[in-house]
Amino acid sequence: MKRILAPSILSSDFSRLGEDIQAVVDAGAEYLHIDVMDGIFVPTISFGMPIIASIRKCTDIVFDVHLMITKPERYIKTFKDLGADVISVHIETLDDPEKTLKEIKALGAKVGLALNPETIIENVFPYLELVDMVMVMTVEPGIGGQKYIHECTPKIVALKEELTKRGLTNVDIEVDGGICVDTIDEALNAGANVIVAGSAVFKDDITANAKAIMAHF
Ligand code: DX5
Ligand code: ZN
Repeated sequence: MKRILAPSILSSDFSRLGEDIQAVVDAGAEYLHIDVMDGIFVPTISFGMPIIASIRKCTDIVFDVHLMITKPERYIKTFKDLGADVISVHIETLDDPEKTLKEIKALGAKVGLALNPETIIENVFPYLELVDMVMVMTVEPGIGGQKYIHECTPKIVALKEELTKRGLTNVDIEVDGGICVDTIDEALNAGANVIVAGSAVFKDDITANAKAIMAHF
């Protein structure tokens, strides 16, 4: 599977967001990870529609939108219209996962299904045929800069095995949380191929940080 870096702008300097995004584009990142939080599903509030509309105007990079919000089905069309290319929703937030996942697909976005560290991987197995990507969270969602939870790595392995068993070899496995040069190999070796990194990228020399992570690909 192709390996892709998805820098998370949650850790960027919002006073210079356009320049920070350009730095990761210049480094060769293919996705931009955009964390939308509502203060209910997660304790924090990040940013929402106006920010996405603004940055959509300044870059063609793939927008990988991670919805950490309750009842995400309310906003899927809105985020697609704002320019989201991949829309990930949390299994913990869905009343009718099949319906919501099919709705994302019907809108023409790539379908992502995310799960929290304490959610067992088998909970997403019934929906694997409906998704383009599964996002395994390796920190508690809500805050950047936390430490990678190693206990989540076996979930990536089990997911990879299940996808292979079912012949779903085109489904991406995204890993989100605590990825840095010290933890990325563990996630890659387990089977992840879309790599989110926030705090490890958006500090000091952003382009160099992104390149240092991609050197592990
Ligand atoms: C956390 C977010 C992550 C976060 C990752 O809720 O979903 O995308 O930005 O940040 P780092 O890479 O610093 O753990
Ligand atoms: Zn995220």
